[in-house]
Amino acid sequence: MAEDQLGLIKLAISIMVGVMIIVFGIAAYVLIKFRRKPGQTDVPKQVEGNLKLEIIWTAIPLVLVMILGVATVQKVFAIGEDYSKDKNAVKVKVTSHLFWWEFNYPDYGVTTAQDLIIPTGKKIALELKTADVLHSFWVPSLAGKTDTNTDGTVNKAWIEASKEGVYLGKCAELCGPSHGLMEFKVKAVSDDSFKKWIESMKAPAVLPADPAVAEVFKSQCLTCHAVGDQGGPLAPNLTGIGSRETVASILLNEEGTGNPVGRKPIKDNLVEWLKDPQAVKPGNKMPAPKEGLGLTDDQIEAIAQYLADYKLSY
Ligand code: CUA
Repeated sequence: MAEDQLGLIKLAISIMVGVMIIVFGIAAYVLIKFRRKPGQTDVPKQVEGNLKLEIIWTAIPLVLVMILGVATVQKVFAIGEDYSKDKNAVKVKVTSHLFWWEFNYPDYGVTTAQDLIIPTGKKIALELKTADVLHSFWVPSLAGKTDTNTDGTVNKAWIEASKEGVYLGKCAELCGPSHGLMEFKVKAVSDDSFKKWIESMKAPAVLPADPAVAEVFKSQCLTCHAVGDQGGPLAPNLTGIGSRETVASILLNEEGTGNPVGRKPIKDNLVEWLKDPQAVKPGNKMPAPKEGLGLTDDQIEAIAQYLADYKLSY
């Protein structure tokens, strides 16, 4: 979709530059060629009206505007296409929250957060809504923005990635103190990898090996978060979080792809987040693990280590 949009911009700019060069060229030619010669005192022949010229300079812009119009209308319909009933499309229900993104794949019974995993070369049919306030889903290198409305309406959109890779996504609607930190990633992988990812997402939940840590994790974390088939839907799903690009969408993991600047091991990012979530993402709804949930530093370390090791193979 973004390529279509870029194509339209290129077409419009080429036409405009073409018109500009011709018009300015003629103007410059006329200014030089017909300027008053030294010593010239007579008034040149006065000309009024020229039907042939008037037809030409009406017809040319009309043709140009029609070329632009036809291309634009075509693309507008293509961009607005609804792929939600298309059998070959991958359906994803997107729900925005203060300040994170939930991705549910209804055909596979899989829910994840922050990293939207998609197969390349396929239409991804999105249905977007919000859990709280107005947000806007935007992956600049793939498509335009789609709002998630507060009146209960579901907006439809689609994306498609032709190349494997990680595409940056942003919330594009001012939604609160951490609006600027409400990022996400679209990770485009091969069809095989996508199938493997779905399989590993559906595998039974892996809980901390140490029973004491597992107990704390279940009683304090899984009340809102989920892993596999356990836990709740109120906070980001943590299944396979060890394979994600970021922690809390803004702390870049060393294990992720892309520019290495500012990346830290996921374990360190998890500890940073768990020690003080409000410092990382002001206004988020996570209770402070230490003050609010009564976790000790050792428990935070152990849970961070468990989550960092909770990877998916795909
Ligand atoms: Cu959500 Cu800005």
